[in-house]
This record gives sequence, structure tokens and C-alpha cells, in this order.
Amino acid sequence: ALESMKDMLNKALQGGYAVGQFNINNLEWTQAILDAAQTEQSPVILGVSEGAARYMGGFKVVTNIVSALIEEMKITVPVAIHLDHGSSFEKCKAAIDAGFTSVMIDASHDPFEENVRITSEVVAYAHERGVSVEAELGTVGGQEDDVVAEGVIYADPKECQELVQRTGIDCLAPALGSVHGPYKGEPKLGFKEMEEICQTIKLPLVLHGGTGIPTEHIKRAVSLGTAKINVNTENQIAFTKVAREILTKDSDVYDPRKFLAPGREAIKQTVMGKIREFGSSNKA
Ligand code: G3H
Ligand code: ZN
Repeated sequence: ALESMKDMLNKALQGGYAVGQFNINNLEWTQAILDAAQTEQSPVILGVSEGAARYMGGFKVVTNIVSALIEEMKITVPVAIHLDHGSSFEKCKAAIDAGFTSVMIDASHDPFEENVRITSEVVAYAHERGVSVEAELGTVGGQEDDVVAEGVIYADPKECQELVQRTGIDCLAPALGSVHGPYKGEPKLGFKEMEEICQTIKLPLVLHGGTGIPTEHIKRAVSLGTAKINVNTENQIAFTKVAREILTKDSDVYDPRKFLAPGREAIKQTVMGKIREFGSSNKA
């Protein structure tokens, strides 16, 4: 059933596991992720970037596809539809009005006071409608759709505390060395800061850039208060690898279902693996 992330993430923080946010691009992605979550009996967050929403035809198309699939696939595990890296109050509002159950307002590139102001505005609109809000501080490296960063800036624990107190957000993504897209070398996550931030703000933490983080680092992050982990690139790689193999092997293939269906299965397997790694199996 559709719900916000609030209970999902608070339960995860208490239970010592993390809920996966898996980004969707189209019908097959949505089917694969819902199928994986139902199979694992795990709560799940469908991440939708502004770029992906544009690609799919708008926020309303996204919520209609998700609702129809939940019904037709008989999905009983908790599902959140979450705007990933919302760029403005207007975008968050549009997503909420279209039926999103959760939004991220990413004003991390703005000066701190501006971040507080925009985030508060989103929280006011969202909470009145039972929608959860994630905010970000610091800079996640790499690139994801419209979100591009030059370097990596670690979130400041004092600012994290102040942002939480002044905005009333439900969870926080403090950038602590993670990167969107593949890592160049081993990720250097700020575990010390992660622990400090979670202990002061007492809210679930979100880890962006989940692709390519070694399992031991994932486990450590979860043990220090990370209750949501975002994964996008890894599913894109899994899908495209299978599709490319099929198309390279057989140049007579023209029915898209011949590579879409095996690609969809590859996403499902990848997501099931992540769910097990994050410890959210059988937590629905
Ligand atoms: O917001 C989405 C994520 O942070 C995804 O990062 O593509 O590196 O897995 P990723
Ligand atoms: Zn992200």
C-alpha cells in the first residue's frame, strides 16, 4: 500500500536496517522494483528524479502507473513514491498534488539560510497532507540527471542540527563523501560525522550514491543511523548489460520485449540483492 516514508524509516532506524530507495525510469523499472519488494516482503521507496518524471510524461503519469501496478500486482508491502532531489518548492508541490507520498527538497547548493527557508516551506505544505520530507546538507559528488556537483563537501553537524530544529523534516541526507554514479576508487564515507549527526538529530539518515559502496561500509552506515539508501546507477547498469548482450548476440531482434523483459528481470535480481544487504527483508 502507498504511504509516506515517515513510519518506514523510523521503524528502520529502530530496527537497525535500511529501506532502499530505487529510482524508476519507466514501466519495467517500476514492475521490477515492486516485484522484488513483494518477493522479499520488504518496504520500498520508488525514487523519481525530475528528469525521470519528465521522461515518463509527468508526475501524474508516474503516480497512475505506480497505483495501477500496486493494484494489479497485488502489492501488499509498504510503498512510498518519493520525489528525488526536488529542485524547488513548486516542483515539490506539483509532485505532492499529483499523489507523491514523499518528497526530497534539495536546496543543498543554496546558502544555509535559504536552504532552511525553502525546506520549511516544503515541510509546511507536505506535512499538512501526510507527505514526508527529506532535506540535504553538504554536496554529494558526481552527477545524476540535473544534479551535478564539482566536488564533495561534507555536511556540517551543527548545521544539520539547526536545519532539523528549524524545519521539522522527517529525515536528512548529510553528504559525507558519497557520490552519484560509479565511484572512482573506494568511497571515503565520514562515519564519525554520520554517528555524531544521527545522535544529535535523532532522525533517520539517508545515504545517497548507494551504487558501488562495499557491503561492510553499508553495514557500518546502517549501524550508525543510516535508515534509507538510494540506488539508481546499479540498476541502470544491470538492465543495460543484459539488453546489450541480447542485442549484440542477435542482430535480428526487433521486438523490444525480447530485451526489456530480461532487463527487467536483471533489475529485480539486483534490487532483491540490495534489499537483503540493507536488512529490510521480511520487515513489511
Ligand atoms: O538520488 C539517488 C541516488 O543518490 C542514487 O545514486 O546512482 O550512485 O546509486 P547512485
Ligand atoms: Zn541522490
